Amino acid sequence: MSIYIRGTGSFQPGIKLTNKDLEKMVDTNDQWIVERTGIKSRNISDGITTVEMALEAGKRCIKDAGINPEEVDLIIVSSVSTEMITPTCSSFIQHKLGCKNAIAFDINAACTGFVYGVANARAMLKTMNMRYAIIIGVDTLSKITDYDDRSTCVLFGDGAGAVLIEYSNEESKDNFHAYLRSDGSLARYLTGVNRLNESPFVDRKNSVDKEYLDEDMEELINNSKYLYMDGREVFKFATKKIIEAIKTVSEMSNTSLDEVKYIVPHQANSRIIEYSARKLGLPMDRFFVNIDTMGNTSSASIPMALDDMNKQGLMSDGDKLILTGFGGGMTWGAVFVEWSKHK
Ligand code: COA
Repeated sequence: MSIYIRGTGSFQPGIKLTNKDLEKMVDTNDQWIVERTGIKSRNISDGITTVEMALEAGKRCIKDAGINPEEVDLIIVSSVSTEMITPTCSSFIQHKLGCKNAIAFDINAACTGFVYGVANARAMLKTMNMRYAIIIGVDTLSKITDYDDRSTCVLFGDGAGAVLIEYSNEESKDNFHAYLRSDGSLARYLTGVNRLNESPFVDRKNSVDKEYLDEDMEELINNSKYLYMDGREVFKFATKKIIEAIKTVSEMSNTSLDEVKYIVPHQANSRIIEYSARKLGLPMDRFFVNIDTMGNTSSASIPMALDDMNKQGLMSDGDKLILTGFGGGMTWGAVFVEWSKHK
């Protein structure tokens, strides 16, 4: 059985927010942002919804793959910022894209969500003997970003990316491997937006059940209108886990990192990527980086990067890729996958 990436698509919303623009909003400057993060600009929603961005990326992905929407068997959307809990974002996509035969559901594993989505899709294609899956990573983080908080608002952007994978049980190549991890004991380092029970039956508004939570989490949950992040802790976590994930998935696939054409990391901070490259003894040109114009788009960053690479013609059939993410939860992981636009 084999699995291949067959198509990609992406969407960046209308407002380009530069570092200079942010200088007018908070006490920051272009030099600090570029030196500490590698980000020069990011695009922000002017009102376009998470669903609409996902739809556009999905549409472009199906067009790129050159298949009929009715052939799609599975749609998984990963996001922390969909408009509705139900119907899911993927339900809208399924209907609007005309994928009338597809199973559709959403997942949330924060910025690792796309990697989780690909691994889930592959498992379902295999178990249920299906052929095509679209995995969409989409986030409108501007909805949950505090634009008075300079430590977070300079980092995030909005966007959507989609990837179509094909599963084939006719071929004998075992060319997919996944390494997924979670550690809920670190959850307090990255949190955002509560959905507390505010029904008339609850006597204390915004109450949180203390029994199940660490003390600092209670405070974070009660006050979580926006994303909160302990940047230094997340930085330490990210550098350690990304290296672990890349090494593990390369061992699982019996493929040395020299044989991998590109490592496509979650675009959170160029310093995290540079540090990981140094520790792995790899040149930076083996990592794809487009954070300078994207910012951190959470679930969308890896599929948007793949679409960027596809448009630039960086990949050929048979190229091996490692996609790696980390984020809230805390979660992290990597998948080893093959590029193949033409069968
Ligand atoms: N502009 C100017 N100064 C800023 C600033 C900004 N936007 N944000 C923070 N600072 C200041 C701090 O207040 C601090 O000042 P002080 O020394 O007077 O206290 C100083 O810069 C250094 O802050 P620090 O938080 O140590 O900076 P850093 O080098 O760790 O960079 C991050 C901050 C957020 C860029 C970095 O920690 C990071 O990228 N973390 C990981 C984030 C991540 O990956 N998140 C996504 C997970 S999915």
